[in-house]
Amino acid sequence: MNTELLAAAKPEDLERAAWLLQQGELVAVPTETVYGLAADAANPLAVNKIFQAKGRPADHPLIVHIHDLAQLAYFAVDIPPAAYQLAAAFWPGPLTLLLHKAPAVSPVVTGGLATIGIRMPAHPALLSLLQQAQLAVAAPSANLYKKLSPTRASQVIHGLAGRIAAVLDGGPCQHGLESTIVDLTTDQVRVLRTGPISAAQIAAVLGYPVSSPQTHQVKVSGNVGAHYQPNTPVYLLDATQLQSQLADSSTKTAVLYYSDLCLPDVAYQHQLPNDAISYGQQLYHELFQADQQAVSRIFLELPPDKMGWEAVHDRLRRAAYHES
Ligand code: TXA
Ligand code: MG
Repeated sequence: MNTELLAAAKPEDLERAAWLLQQGELVAVPTETVYGLAADAANPLAVNKIFQAKGRPADHPLIVHIHDLAQLAYFAVDIPPAAYQLAAAFWPGPLTLLLHKAPAVSPVVTGGLATIGIRMPAHPALLSLLQQAQLAVAAPSANLYKKLSPTRASQVIHGLAGRIAAVLDGGPCQHGLESTIVDLTTDQVRVLRTGPISAAQIAAVLGYPVSSPQTHQVKVSGNVGAHYQPNTPVYLLDATQLQSQLADSSTKTAVLYYSDLCLPDVAYQHQLPNDAISYGQQLYHELFQADQQAVSRIFLELPPDKMGWEAVHDRLRRAAYHES
């Protein structure tokens, strides 16, 4: 299959993307978090293609992306008031609400689960695409299973060219990390995946505490240890360990660091920003860049263990996970 490269800024390309989705084809689309691999959520045959293209197990649930709040009631039932409060506060935006699935929705979308993740993305091109096509899309991140989530169209091409109908290029993603997932299906509201919107922000809107576990919870595909991984092994080290491990080593190493370190001569190095938001924006892109170098390992300086860095730490642990 020849993968078409479409430009979000061109109306005729948006129209083409809308048409492809309506035909049941896969189109990678920009969102404000990471690029998503979209299929018409109401077409199980189209949704099924997502699992094939990504090499993802069929029991891993997908997030449905809507453009209009009225669509919520098509995909979910028993919607609690908290869902509308959070939607009013954070949509369009990087928050996925976990709700009870409506019976009419194909189990292919939710990997057989009785719950469904739904969000309204904030990327203007994706919103107009969904409006134009008059549909909602099921969309996981547009990467091969377990690999880094793409934050640019070129990275989607790198991983999925030949496997999908088109990529809609909407420029680099604003957040660079996947949406926060919050579970509203039980009495205790909990964050299942940390992301751009914190548990504290959610709690402030709801007026009661929201739990936020250290790691992804069950049934979230990110809970497998190894996830968000470059091909080159990643090692997390503090500044002192970094310096000592690099001294008298001839192993070709790429180093991603954030503090003002003076490094010995290494094959590749890049300094990441020292604020959590910019760091998150650039992390996947810089891991991708480091992965393209002729190196046999990536050393990553552990970022600060402070509030605001939770989503970064969660993704880094998975990027650096080694089977033991
Ligand atoms: O920012 C994002 O959320 C991006 C963009 C494209 O929207 N999407 C994304 O999708 O990260 P994906 O499939 O790579 O990760 C979605 C996570 C998975 O870990 C999945 O298991 C979880 O959401 N998830 C989706 N539906 C669920 C459900 N019904 N129950 C539990 N977890 C669910
Ligand atoms: Mg993913």
